[in-house]
Amino acid sequence: MIILNLKIEKISKKFDSAKALDSISLSLKENNILALVGINGSGKTTLLRILAGLEEPDNGSIILNNSIMETNELRKISTLVFQQTSMFNRSVYSNLEFGLRIRGYEKTIIKSKIDEALKIVGLEGFENRNAKKISGGEQQRVALARAFLLEPKILLLDEPTSNLDINSAKIIEKVIHDRKKMGNLIILSTHNLHQAKRLADEIAHIHEGKIIKRAKSDTFFSNSKGSVTEKFIKGDLQF
Ligand SMILES: Nc1ncnc2c1ncn2[C@@H]1O[C@H](COP(=O)(O)OP(=O)(O)O)[C@@H](O)[C@H]1O
Ligand SMILES: [Mg+2]
Repeated sequence: MIILNLKIEKISKKFDSAKALDSISLSLKENNILALVGINGSGKTTLLRILAGLEEPDNGSIILNNSIMETNELRKISTLVFQQTSMFNRSVYSNLEFGLRIRGYEKTIIKSKIDEALKIVGLEGFENRNAKKISGGEQQRVALARAFLLEPKILLLDEPTSNLDINSAKIIEKVIHDRKKMGNLIILSTHNLHQAKRLADEIAHIHEGKIIKRAKSDTFFSNSKGSVTEKFIKGDLQF
């Protein structure tokens, strides 16, 4: 079996004259979770959008198992769960069904896949609820279910639990944690360092568009004396 291996090589991106990403290099193997941490404006979302094929980098490449992935290929193999979920004003079922219908699955298969996905995110019985009228935490869980149904090789999560109630946040963390064993590459951004520690195998600290520290999550929090990362960990960097 081929193990997925993702390499991000010297990715840079400017908006107008401001550098959002400045030569970012990272690598990640299947069944691992990488957390991108950093204050607001450091470049986390931009990197995730590039990995999802929603944004073109100015320089650098994304390589999956030795093949360079162009933007349109990334769109097929990656799915980004946005920080702000966007549900159609229809039932939860319709919201989940959409991507599967496009792929041409039969109705009975679609139903069984949706049943399973709703079970995974703890939303059995929500099929007929209006997706815009359920809570923010529930909407984020529908968004996760929707992402799983697309079976992406690369699952990208932008601040998956920010502004959510604790109960939903806990469920989402568990779902992400369980997903890790299922042959995905998972990259999430968070400014919650506890979450990064709980979920991630490795943590990369992005600051002003650069990776300034990358380490296994059990060592990330030590050995940072006197650095910008130490300030960040202590909460002394301005958001
Ligand atoms: N579409 C855009 N147009 C102009 N500037 C942008 C755009 N997207 C992001 N930026 C800028 O790029 C930098 C990085 O932003 P972002 O990736 O959203 O950071 P983060 O997700 O870490 O908060 C910020 O300075 C932000 O203002
Ligand atoms: Mg962001």
